[in-house]
Amino acid sequence: MTTPGKFITLEGVDGAGKSTHLGFVADWLRRQGREVVVTREPGGTPLGETLRELLLHREMDADTELLLMFAARQEHLAGLIRPALARGAWVVSDRFTDASYAYQCGGRGIAAERIAALEAWVQRGFAPDLTLLFDVPPEVAEARRSAARSADRFEREADSFFSRVRDAYLDRAHAEPARIRVLDARHGIAELQVEIGRLLQGVL
Ligand code: TYD
Repeated sequence: MTTPGKFITLEGVDGAGKSTHLGFVADWLRRQGREVVVTREPGGTPLGETLRELLLHREMDADTELLLMFAARQEHLAGLIRPALARGAWVVSDRFTDASYAYQCGGRGIAAERIAALEAWVQRGFAPDLTLLFDVPPEVAEARRSAARSADRFEREADSFFSRVRDAYLDRAHAEPARIRVLDARHGIAELQVEIGRLLQGVL
Protein backbone atom coordinates (compact mmCIF):
# COMPACT_ATOMS: atom_id res chain seq x y z
CA MET A 1 0.00 0.00 0.00
CA THR A 2 1.27 3.49 -0.87
CA THR A 3 2.09 5.73 2.07
CA PRO A 4 0.20 9.00 1.57
CA GLY A 5 2.32 12.10 0.98
CA LYS A 6 2.34 15.13 3.24
CA PHE A 7 0.88 18.57 2.77
CA ILE A 8 3.06 21.61 3.44
CA THR A 9 1.87 25.20 3.21
CA LEU A 10 3.69 28.53 3.14
CA GLU A 11 2.04 31.62 4.57
CA GLY A 12 2.77 35.24 5.38
CA VAL A 13 1.61 38.78 4.59
CA ASP A 14 2.25 40.11 1.09
CA GLY A 15 5.88 41.22 1.10
CA ALA A 16 7.09 38.65 3.67
CA GLY A 17 9.06 36.86 0.94
CA LYS A 18 7.49 33.39 1.19
CA SER A 19 7.45 32.82 -2.60
CA THR A 20 11.27 32.95 -2.61
CA HIS A 21 11.31 29.83 -0.43
CA LEU A 22 8.74 27.75 -2.30
CA GLY A 23 11.29 26.36 -4.78
CA PHE A 24 13.73 25.62 -1.98
CA VAL A 25 11.14 23.55 -0.09
CA ALA A 26 10.28 21.58 -3.25
CA ASP A 27 13.95 20.97 -4.16
CA TRP A 28 14.79 19.91 -0.61
CA LEU A 29 12.00 17.31 -0.64
CA ARG A 30 12.97 16.08 -4.12
CA ARG A 31 16.51 15.54 -2.86
CA GLN A 32 15.00 13.18 -0.28
CA GLY A 33 13.50 11.21 -3.18
CA ARG A 34 9.91 12.45 -2.85
CA GLU A 35 7.59 13.25 -5.73
CA VAL A 36 6.61 16.87 -5.16
CA VAL A 37 3.67 18.88 -6.50
CA VAL A 38 3.99 22.65 -6.14
CA THR A 39 0.77 24.64 -6.20
CA ARG A 40 -0.87 27.80 -4.93
CA GLU A 41 -4.05 29.36 -3.59
CA PRO A 42 -6.23 30.80 -4.73
CA GLY A 43 -5.58 28.69 -7.84
CA GLY A 44 -3.89 25.39 -8.52
CA THR A 45 -6.51 24.06 -10.97
CA PRO A 46 -7.84 25.54 -14.24
CA LEU A 47 -11.08 26.67 -12.57
CA GLY A 48 -9.18 27.81 -9.47
CA GLU A 49 -6.87 29.97 -11.60
CA THR A 50 -9.93 31.57 -13.24
CA LEU A 51 -11.33 32.32 -9.78
CA ARG A 52 -7.92 33.73 -8.79
CA GLU A 53 -8.11 36.27 -11.62
CA LEU A 54 -11.50 37.44 -10.33
CA LEU A 55 -10.36 37.46 -6.69
CA LEU A 56 -7.22 39.47 -7.36
CA HIS A 57 -8.66 41.98 -9.81
CA ARG A 58 -12.44 42.39 -9.49
CA GLU A 59 -14.11 44.44 -6.76
CA MET A 60 -16.53 42.31 -4.71
CA ASP A 61 -18.30 41.99 -1.39
CA ALA A 62 -16.15 40.54 1.43
CA ASP A 63 -18.40 37.48 1.86
CA THR A 64 -18.32 36.83 -1.89
CA GLU A 65 -14.52 36.93 -1.64
CA LEU A 66 -14.55 34.39 1.19
CA LEU A 67 -16.96 32.06 -0.63
CA LEU A 68 -14.92 32.19 -3.83
CA MET A 69 -11.73 31.41 -1.87
CA PHE A 70 -13.42 28.27 -0.54
CA ALA A 71 -14.94 27.37 -3.92
CA ALA A 72 -11.42 27.48 -5.38
CA ARG A 73 -10.17 25.46 -2.39
CA GLN A 74 -12.81 22.75 -2.84
CA GLU A 75 -11.77 22.39 -6.49
CA HIS A 76 -8.10 22.35 -5.48
CA LEU A 77 -8.64 19.63 -2.85
CA ALA A 78 -10.82 17.46 -5.09
CA GLY A 79 -8.87 17.91 -8.32
CA LEU A 80 -5.26 18.14 -7.19
CA ILE A 81 -4.35 17.97 -3.49
CA ARG A 82 -6.18 14.82 -2.36
CA PRO A 83 -5.32 12.73 -5.47
CA ALA A 84 -1.63 13.75 -5.28
CA LEU A 85 -1.36 12.88 -1.58
CA ALA A 86 -3.15 9.56 -2.17
CA ARG A 87 -0.58 8.46 -4.74
CA GLY A 88 2.23 9.30 -2.30
CA ALA A 89 3.30 12.72 -3.64
CA TRP A 90 4.09 15.59 -1.30
CA VAL A 91 2.14 18.77 -1.97
CA VAL A 92 3.64 22.20 -1.30
CA SER A 93 1.15 25.05 -1.50
CA ASP A 94 1.79 28.78 -1.58
CA ARG A 95 -1.04 29.66 0.88
CA PHE A 96 -4.06 27.67 2.13
CA THR A 97 -6.83 28.13 4.74
CA ASP A 98 -4.69 30.01 7.28
CA ALA A 99 -4.70 32.82 4.67
CA SER A 100 -8.52 32.93 4.84
CA TYR A 101 -8.36 33.39 8.62
CA ALA A 102 -5.63 36.02 8.24
CA TYR A 103 -7.04 38.03 5.30
CA GLN A 104 -10.81 37.51 5.36
CA CYS A 105 -11.17 37.33 9.18
CA GLY A 106 -8.20 39.44 10.37
CA GLY A 107 -8.06 41.81 7.39
CA ARG A 108 -11.70 42.15 6.35
CA GLY A 109 -13.32 41.45 9.73
CA ILE A 110 -15.48 38.43 8.80
CA ALA A 111 -16.38 36.32 11.87
CA ALA A 112 -14.00 33.39 12.41
CA GLU A 113 -17.02 31.08 12.88
CA ARG A 114 -18.04 31.60 9.25
CA ILE A 115 -14.61 30.58 8.07
CA ALA A 116 -14.58 27.61 10.44
CA ALA A 117 -17.94 26.46 9.01
CA LEU A 118 -16.60 26.56 5.44
CA GLU A 119 -13.37 24.89 6.54
CA ALA A 120 -15.33 22.01 8.12
CA TRP A 121 -17.49 21.64 5.00
CA VAL A 122 -14.67 21.71 2.46
CA GLN A 123 -11.85 20.05 4.40
CA ARG A 124 -13.71 17.52 6.57
CA GLY A 125 -10.89 17.55 9.12
CA PHE A 126 -8.08 17.72 6.57
CA ALA A 127 -5.24 20.12 7.51
CA PRO A 128 -1.62 20.76 6.50
CA ASP A 129 1.06 18.60 8.15
CA LEU A 130 3.35 21.63 8.40
CA THR A 131 2.84 25.34 7.81
CA LEU A 132 5.79 27.70 7.46
CA LEU A 133 4.73 31.20 8.47
CA PHE A 134 7.09 33.88 7.16
CA ASP A 135 6.76 36.76 9.57
CA VAL A 136 8.08 40.29 9.19
CA PRO A 137 7.26 43.58 10.93
CA PRO A 138 4.72 45.67 8.96
CA GLU A 139 7.25 48.29 7.82
CA VAL A 140 9.53 45.66 6.25
CA ALA A 141 6.64 44.02 4.37
CA GLU A 142 5.42 47.46 3.25
CA ALA A 143 8.87 48.36 1.84
CA ARG A 144 9.01 45.03 -0.05
CA ARG A 145 5.48 45.51 -1.40
CA SER A 146 6.16 49.00 -2.70
CA ALA A 147 9.27 47.72 -4.48
CA ALA A 148 7.11 45.19 -6.35
CA ARG A 149 5.92 46.23 -9.81
CA SER A 150 2.17 45.80 -10.16
CA ALA A 151 -0.17 45.59 -7.18
CA ASP A 152 -3.32 43.42 -7.11
CA ARG A 153 -6.50 44.18 -5.13
CA PHE A 154 -4.98 42.85 -1.87
CA GLU A 155 -1.60 44.49 -2.28
CA ARG A 156 -3.31 47.89 -2.64
CA GLU A 157 -4.78 47.61 0.88
CA ALA A 158 -3.73 50.04 3.65
CA ASP A 159 -0.87 49.26 6.05
CA SER A 160 -3.43 48.81 8.87
CA PHE A 161 -5.01 45.94 6.87
CA PHE A 162 -1.67 44.11 6.73
CA SER A 163 -1.04 44.70 10.44
CA ARG A 164 -4.34 42.94 11.18
CA VAL A 165 -3.46 40.14 8.74
CA ARG A 166 -0.11 39.65 10.44
CA ASP A 167 -1.67 39.63 13.92
CA ALA A 168 -4.26 37.05 12.81
CA TYR A 169 -1.49 34.81 11.42
CA LEU A 170 0.47 35.08 14.67
CA ASP A 171 -2.65 34.28 16.72
CA ARG A 172 -3.13 31.12 14.68
CA ALA A 173 0.50 30.13 15.16
CA HIS A 174 0.10 30.68 18.88
CA ALA A 175 -3.00 28.42 18.93
CA GLU A 176 -1.37 25.66 16.83
CA PRO A 177 2.37 25.81 17.60
CA ALA A 178 3.10 22.24 16.51
CA ARG A 179 1.77 22.73 12.97
CA ILE A 180 2.46 26.42 12.31
CA ARG A 181 6.14 27.29 12.62
CA VAL A 182 7.01 30.98 12.62
CA LEU A 183 10.13 32.03 10.73
CA ASP A 184 11.64 35.49 11.16
CA ALA A 185 11.69 36.55 7.52
CA ARG A 186 14.04 39.48 8.25
CA HIS A 187 16.83 36.89 8.36
CA GLY A 188 18.94 36.23 5.28
CA ILE A 189 17.86 33.61 2.75
CA ALA A 190 20.69 31.19 3.62
CA GLU A 191 19.92 31.35 7.33
CA LEU A 192 16.19 30.81 6.71
CA GLN A 193 16.92 27.83 4.50
CA VAL A 194 18.88 26.10 7.25
CA GLU A 195 15.88 26.54 9.55
CA ILE A 196 13.43 25.39 6.83
CA GLY A 197 15.51 22.25 6.22
CA ARG A 198 15.43 21.48 9.93
CA LEU A 199 11.63 21.84 10.06
CA LEU A 200 11.17 19.67 6.95
CA GLN A 201 13.39 17.00 8.48
CA GLY A 202 10.91 16.93 11.36
CA VAL A 203 7.99 15.88 9.13
CA LEU A 204 9.87 13.40 6.88
P1 TYD B 1 -0.03 35.86 -3.29
O1 TYD B 1 -0.04 34.47 -2.78
O2 TYD B 1 0.60 36.88 -2.43
O3 TYD B 1 0.56 35.80 -4.73
P2 TYD B 1 1.59 36.80 -5.42
O4 TYD B 1 2.88 36.50 -4.71
O5 TYD B 1 1.52 36.36 -6.84
O6 TYD B 1 1.05 38.20 -5.18
O7 TYD B 1 -1.50 36.41 -3.70
C1 TYD B 1 -2.65 35.87 -3.31
C2 TYD B 1 -3.49 36.89 -2.56
O8 TYD B 1 -4.67 36.24 -2.13
C3 TYD B 1 -2.80 37.41 -1.30
O9 TYD B 1 -2.85 38.81 -1.28
C4 TYD B 1 -3.64 36.86 -0.16
C5 TYD B 1 -4.94 36.54 -0.79
N1 TYD B 1 -5.64 35.38 -0.16
C6 TYD B 1 -6.69 35.62 0.71
O10 TYD B 1 -7.04 36.78 0.94
N2 TYD B 1 -7.34 34.56 1.27
C7 TYD B 1 -7.01 33.26 1.01
O11 TYD B 1 -7.64 32.32 1.54
C8 TYD B 1 -5.91 33.02 0.12
C9 TYD B 1 -5.50 31.61 -0.20
C10 TYD B 1 -5.24 34.11 -0.44
